[in-house]
Amino acid sequence: MKVYLRSGLRDLKPYKANDVPYRIKMDANESPYDLPGVVKKQLARELLEDSGLNLYPDSDAAVLRESISGYCKVHPDEIIVGAGSDELIQVIINAFIDRGEMVLYPDPSFGMYGIFTRIAGGIPVEVPLNDDFSYDTDGFHKAIEQHKPKLIFICSPNNPTGNILELDRLRGLLENFNGIVVVDEAYGEFCSHSAIEYIAQYPNLVVLKTFSKAMGLAGLRIGYLIANKGLVEQISIVKPPYNVSSISQRAARLVLENIDIIRERISKIVAERERLYGKLSRMNGISVYPSNTNFLLLKANGAGKICERLMQEGILVRSFAGNGRLKDCLRVTVGTAEDNDTFLQVLEQILRGQ
Ligand SMILES: Cc1ncc(COP(=O)(O)O)c(C=O)c1O
Repeated sequence: MKVYLRSGLRDLKPYKANDVPYRIKMDANESPYDLPGVVKKQLARELLEDSGLNLYPDSDAAVLRESISGYCKVHPDEIIVGAGSDELIQVIINAFIDRGEMVLYPDPSFGMYGIFTRIAGGIPVEVPLNDDFSYDTDGFHKAIEQHKPKLIFICSPNNPTGNILELDRLRGLLENFNGIVVVDEAYGEFCSHSAIEYIAQYPNLVVLKTFSKAMGLAGLRIGYLIANKGLVEQISIVKPPYNVSSISQRAARLVLENIDIIRERISKIVAERERLYGKLSRMNGISVYPSNTNFLLLKANGAGKICERLMQEGILVRSFAGNGRLKDCLRVTVGTAEDNDTFLQVLEQILRGQ
């Protein structure tokens, strides 16, 4: 058919998640735990009593912002809630990037920074990580000089490499750059790492968080950003109204009210991550990168084939085969102890050629 799509977007493909049947899902860095029972029961009770679903949700998520404010120790006016942090990445780019302006971000990193930049008509500029995937801050400083970007994304801990940018090096960037710096902390809960404490000090800083990973609410699409009030007012102009459903807002509040259960689960995932790391690093033919997240990046010859074999056994992992510097890499989400054991057992069989 006639192609109506904007000419600058014609080489892009629609986002496609794995949609094959599976036993164990370790490909999208979701939580392996279902919603806590107390949260489910409370939600169900409220829905049965008076769902309120005939009405639009609170457009500004005012009550949820109060809860997040208590959790993150920032003012509610310093928070915007979005339909996942994905939506907020797009909202931020749309708020600040005019056609032809540059957006800097690390490579490899989360793919949506580049895609949303292109959709907005901006120009993506990738700054390579070092060979060991640590952040090359000199490279960022040079790229800032050269490209004069308006916006920088830092993913810390980084997806898919699992490492952080240390806070003192982040401060160096914040101090030497007068555009906006977004620190995506989607996995921050797995290493108690956060730049939130710098919000008051740096008016050009935005911290992005999500309920999809440690909080276990990926299916409800809730993310939030934290920035000083002036920046929040500017970004709010672009945020679509009623973007987060009432059920999502309520569930997120209930999860924060039961944060002790979530904290216990995070500790279990972190302990499992370290156990998996230990086992994988002793396996022949595999190298594994240290991680501050709920996933591990592995390198193995024939990574694409290994991914396919795992899939045949009902285990989904993310393959980066054919993807530049990650071409021999797999990303594996940390599951429950039982899931991780099954994964290890099947992986060993595959590596032994059985
Ligand atoms: C680094 C990073 N940022 C943002 C997201 C988007 O998360 P969500 O839209 O579910 O909040 C992801 C999801 O995988 C991610 O890895």
